[in-house]
Amino acid sequence: MIIAVGSDHAGYEGGIPYKPELMRHIESLGHIVVDCGTNGSESVDYPDFAEAVANAILEKHAVCGILLCGTGIGMSIAANRHRGIRAAACATVDMARLSREHNDANVLCLGRRILELDQCKELITLWLDTPFS
Ligand code: RB5
Repeated sequence: MIIAVGSDHAGYEGGIPYKPELMRHIESLGHIVVDCGTNGSESVDYPDFAEAVANAILEKHAVCGILLCGTGIGMSIAANRHRGIRAAACATVDMARLSREHNDANVLCLGRRILELDQCKELITLWLDTPFS
């Protein structure tokens, strides 16, 4: 699948920048990433990147999207302003699975300040593998 990925500066804070790690993880699963930015630790406005991912999906440049901010909440609020986007902020395996099975979420929002990198990878892997029931 082609997957749009976006984050604000939270995706680049701390010791390990999550966004490039998560893009590599998605590619290692056999998917193609559309990079919607940001690409550094300079402070930016998260709605700009939620909009970029939403537009990539709505314009059919990507099938679904992954958004990263401090908590995942701001990105989900911003992405859900776009008709046709069903963004879910998920912090557990069950939330990620059910957001696909029950809600047909087309954007997964993750929190850099909430989740370890390996947890993000686990949620992404599960989310991408889970069909809408
Ligand atoms: C940025 O500092 C932070 O506010 C943002 O990443 C996000 O957590 C908002 O929901």
